[in-house]
Amino acid sequence: MLRRMTPWLDALVDDVAGFRKRPIAQLATVTTDNRPAVRSVVLRGVTNDGAFWFSADGRSRKPALGPAELCLWLPSRSTQWRIAGQLELHAPGSERSDVTALLEAAWESMDAEARKQLVGPPPGSVRDTERLTPSEPAAMPDSLRVGLLTPETADRLVLDRPHRRTLFTLTGATWSASEVHP
Ligand SMILES: Cc1cc2nc3c(=O)[nH]c(=O)nc-3n(C[C@H](O)[C@H](O)[C@H](O)COP(=O)(O)O)c2cc1C
Repeated sequence: MLRRMTPWLDALVDDVAGFRKRPIAQLATVTTDNRPAVRSVVLRGVTNDGAFWFSADGRSRKPALGPAELCLWLPSRSTQWRIAGQLELHAPGSERSDVTALLEAAWESMDAEARKQLVGPPPGSVRDTERLTPSEPAAMPDSLRVGLLTPETADRLVLDRPHRRTLFTLTGATWSASEVHP
């Protein structure tokens, strides 16, 4: 159903080999003072309604709501994907029904270091060398977020001979595709 709704998704899932190795994507957002902000995230998969998801610390600079774009470079396919849309960060207790399962999946797959960071000083705060490092939390902390990017456009660039670029645009509930000059 989702695949029929989002015609480019099969090509992307094929390019990332089914998310089995969890590709690294660059996530661009806009700060509150209208500056660009970009960082790497581990792309964990696609939800049943077509949102790309990752985990985050709710105390980071990622906005809880706003426009965002993911950029993926897949060297084995010589392909770049850019997926733009609306980003939402969801906290434990979110009303969205799939968030609890996504948070749990993210928490389960985190190593001790990543878990400790969620209860340590906030990302970007000045490091206090006197401060003891926190021990690994026993349960999922409130700071864990699931980031969901719901796509509105997708842009696939394949560096074949010749280069091929396809733009996919969502209008209402319908995706359209156009081949454009790279
Ligand atoms: C390979 C790699 C993977 C990363 N994965 C994530 C991730 O999945 N989620 C996340 O919030 N930060 C991840 N980070 C850290 C971010 O790139 C970034 O440094 C951090 O989220 C703070 O950035 P921000 O405050 O601008 O959001 C990753 C960094 C690297 C280098």
